[in-house]
Amino acid sequence: MPLEPHIRIFPTVQALSEAAAIELARLSSDSIAQRGRFMLALSGGSTPRTLYELLGKNYRNSIDWQYVHIFWGDERYIPHENPESNYFLAKKSFLGYIEIPIENIHPIPTSYSSPEEAARTYDHELKDIFGEIKPEFDLILLGLGSDGHTASLFPGLKFENDDSRNVIVTESPAGPRIRISLTMNTINRARNIFFLVEGEEKAGILKKVLNCIQEDQPNFPASRVNPIGIVTWFVDRTAIKEWGQPLKK
Ligand code: 6PG
Repeated sequence: MPLEPHIRIFPTVQALSEAAAIELARLSSDSIAQRGRFMLALSGGSTPRTLYELLGKNYRNSIDWQYVHIFWGDERYIPHENPESNYFLAKKSFLGYIEIPIENIHPIPTSYSSPEEAARTYDHELKDIFGEIKPEFDLILLGLGSDGHTASLFPGLKFENDDSRNVIVTESPAGPRIRISLTMNTINRARNIFFLVEGEEKAGILKKVLNCIQEDQPNFPASRVNPIGIVTWFVDRTAIKEWGQPLKK
């Protein structure tokens, strides 16, 4: 069914990140009040860095971190100490500054001899912590790649209907090649999804993806994101620079 994407536009990445932090904090207290915990999956790439730094600096005491569980939507199959690792980004920018029980932080393992084994292990961990075969995240943060990928789900990937797995191994056309990613089915079980998109270089693909969503065309992995819950696009002005059409605030 065609969707009307909920797009919020901001003058800067700072403003975008502040708005996303406010919404994240609100969702965390709602989820903790309703279900006793907040199940959050982080995104990688560069765009979420400002948001993470804000969480580490301004939200240390305003989010009840002891009831928050932190997962990753995807990871590069490289050591966590490597600056290109998504775990490394989160660790450096906020995990090191907040009081969260270590057992509530669930990085995607990248030290197994086989990535398949790491994916299976993370799948089991999700099922254990969620206590259900089909985990429903309270919030998943996603980015948008210039080829229309999201998490580590790249164009050309055969999207399986196999619902038994929540985590798969994929290959990236650029950057660290081997990836581990939540499946599209798992992403689409989320109660809330935030896309964080910034930069002029994303204007073209963002327009294509949003048009596909409006026309229910799954042409890009990002346009297949159609969860049970709510999707909000947090976009900075440079990412819509060329659009020239009026957009919702
Ligand atoms: C990754 C990400 C990926 C990212 C996009 C956008 O591990 O690379 O999870 O999906 O979100 O590639 O990346 P930027 O924010 O750097 O543009």
